[in-house]
Amino acid sequence: MRIFIVHAHPEPNSFNGALTRAAEQALVAAGHEVVISDLYAMGFNPVSGRRNFTTVRDANYYRQQAEEANAAVHGGFAPDIQAEMDKLFWCDALILQFPLWWFGLPAILKGWVDRVFASGGRIYGGGKWYDRGVFAGKRAMCSVTIGGPPPIYSDRGLNGPISEILFPINHGILYFVGFTVIEPFLVHAPARISDLERQIYLARYRERILDLPQASTIPYPKLADFDVHHVLKSN
Ligand SMILES: Cc1cc2nc3c(=O)[nH]c(=O)nc-3n(C[C@H](O)[C@H](O)[C@H](O)COP(=O)(O)O)c2cc1C
Repeated sequence: MRIFIVHAHPEPNSFNGALTRAAEQALVAAGHEVVISDLYAMGFNPVSGRRNFTTVRDANYYRQQAEEANAAVHGGFAPDIQAEMDKLFWCDALILQFPLWWFGLPAILKGWVDRVFASGGRIYGGGKWYDRGVFAGKRAMCSVTIGGPPPIYSDRGLNGPISEILFPINHGILYFVGFTVIEPFLVHAPARISDLERQIYLARYRERILDLPQASTIPYPKLADFDVHHVLKSN
């Protein structure tokens, strides 16, 4: 297996750091190949703009998707974007490792998606989306640390179900570009649990990461289930 981990935490000694190191060690020991984009360590620039491209389609008005379509045809993605795209095409499975920040991705990781997941048929577009997406056949999983404990993210909890909070990422980003989405690996309140509990989380994560090909996935509907208006067909 070829695993691509995109790691978004500013502190190497954080529990996020421990999770990524545990995954890398377990995968390498089992003979798999691992590539990690440690976004903070790389100084990855998450701000989209003309810096995304070496080509220019319209110098007077910046339309990102139009510039992406043009760059896709002319090989015009900036080297930092092209390098991340190459890792996506290389991998069999993608892991997004991040702390939940404001019910979503840390800005550096959201910006990585904004810049790297380019339109014009390179990463999506031209009929390539969902189960007909560019990355159909590959798997992806979010590994998330969460400040709050499980009850507050339950169906009746104050913050609402974690599955709904992660829907924009799992469905709107990962499945949108074709990945089969594995159920997320969730760590609650890593700073407020015992060292033994943290070790148990790490052991469970090593197991999950070695089980990526079999791990249970989120059963999203297929494009064929929808009519021409993208509304679910009635039976
Ligand atoms: C900017 C910011 C936003 C945060 N937003 C949330 C949030 O929406 N929900 C939550 O449960 N915890 C939130 N937290 C807490 C982090 O999720 C928590 O500290 C982290 O997952 C712990 O992992 P770490 O020890 O590896 O940093 C936030 C923390 C920061 C710094």
